[in-house]
Amino acid sequence: MKLFIKKPIAQLMAASAATESTLKRTLGVGSLIALGIGAIIGAGIFVRTAAAAGEHAGPAVTISFLIAASGCALAGLCYAEFASMIPIAGSAYTYSYATMGEFIAWIIGWDLVLEYALGAATVAIGWSQYFNEFLTTFFGFHIPYAWSHSFFETSNTTVGMYAAELGNRGIVNLPAILILFLLTLLLIKGTAESAIVNNVIVVVKVAIVLMIIGLGWHFINPALHTPYMIPADAGVIKVSTGVVNYGDTFNHGWLGVLRGASVVFFAFIGFDAVSTAAQEAKNPQRDMPKGILISLVICTALYILFSHVLTGLVSYKQFLIQGKEASVTYAIKAAMPGYNWLANLVTVSILAGFSSVILVMLMGQTRVFYTMSTDGLIPKIFSKLHPKFRTPYKSQWLFFGFVSIFAGFIPDRIVGDMVSIGTLFAFVLVCLGIMILRNTDPNLVRPFKTPIYYIVCPLGALICLGMIASEGWENWARLIVWLLIGFIIYFGYSIKRSHVRHGKVEGAIDPINPKFVE
Ligand code: ALA
Repeated sequence: MKLFIKKPIAQLMAASAATESTLKRTLGVGSLIALGIGAIIGAGIFVRTAAAAGEHAGPAVTISFLIAASGCALAGLCYAEFASMIPIAGSAYTYSYATMGEFIAWIIGWDLVLEYALGAATVAIGWSQYFNEFLTTFFGFHIPYAWSHSFFETSNTTVGMYAAELGNRGIVNLPAILILFLLTLLLIKGTAESAIVNNVIVVVKVAIVLMIIGLGWHFINPALHTPYMIPADAGVIKVSTGVVNYGDTFNHGWLGVLRGASVVFFAFIGFDAVSTAAQEAKNPQRDMPKGILISLVICTALYILFSHVLTGLVSYKQFLIQGKEASVTYAIKAAMPGYNWLANLVTVSILAGFSSVILVMLMGQTRVFYTMSTDGLIPKIFSKLHPKFRTPYKSQWLFFGFVSIFAGFIPDRIVGDMVSIGTLFAFVLVCLGIMILRNTDPNLVRPFKTPIYYIVCPLGALICLGMIASEGWENWARLIVWLLIGFIIYFGYSIKRSHVRHGKVEGAIDPINPKFVE
């Protein structure tokens, strides 16, 4: 059995041509950077930062950002080489099918579900927090704790909107399911997002981050930054999902910072969007690494400054209690008197900003499954198109159901950790894959070559593995179970139906301009 059978590049090109996509080389380095920043900034900074600071890293979450960014930068260079080797646009799944073979492609494609589908769930849970903040601020009511939280959470705060619901247990997170439902409808009607709306949202997101840094800087209380890392004797805190013991290995000191890196890693997901635009870059050899690295550097700088301000406004411990929900709005209201307008602006902007991130993630998910379905690896239902809208509507509905189970019934920290570990694992495979390919296929045409690959590849894999190691056995177990389910499907279903194995060629999708074809 040829486990590592490769999809012929000619077949990929033919399928790509069938979509009538003509990707013009129009993107300069500036557009690539904008693309990167637009895809990167989202719930990571506005939700996960507070979680990482509160539970693991304290004010030193700034260092966590540096670690996560260096892992991303090294993996990003490998991604760029990967993307440039295959002369069509696509996801890591597509590239690995042609270069590393079907089995690795399957693992990566299966793993991307964690990144995209559960990523959408994580952002939807964050959206739900800010939605309740929005309702409280502008309409004076909120959706009760029980109906806006998962069953595994219990209200633990005596101030704020949930004060009267202390001790109430969650049932289901309805607002998170609602936003997923609305965006699924939108995706089914047509996947083309307005570029103008998207650009406006990018500008608003960056502006909000800059305003918080600029205006919040004067309100930083230096005492809150001392000590900089969480000490082992910081105590035990009752949180909505149980208790957090700062004495635990990954909840203080340097190991806490490393664990924090795996949490804020979420904030960088999406930068690989730059590498998928390799075929549209005017000069990929020069501009791809610049696009990836500069957008990462800009976002890292913004994130570090932002988290420095955030942990200087309120004690990191508050991010597990009163400030657990809608953390940024909470910090502004608590520590910046006279700036309620900024808090309200943040709330409204986040609702729009998060929606666009969810939209992109849900679309990315169905795109990857569409391609896997046309390759015969998963059932045809995932590439069944709507007769009128030409979108994979059945797949969208199935994923609506799947994502809703996580968004509605699982706490954000668990879902967010699954996204991080899944994506980190995919990055490790890409880093190692590039290194192996350099030795096994040195003659492949590589418009972009990772510089000093013998250092970049292993170091990238190592940093990502370090973050995975810090996630703890519960998260490893979740990843292993997920991969085992994937193996059962692969060996029980996909291998018998793989079109590449049986010489069939089917349509494909142009992921940059996703008009679905049959
Ligand atoms: N990086 C994206 C976010 O933070 C996924 O929402």
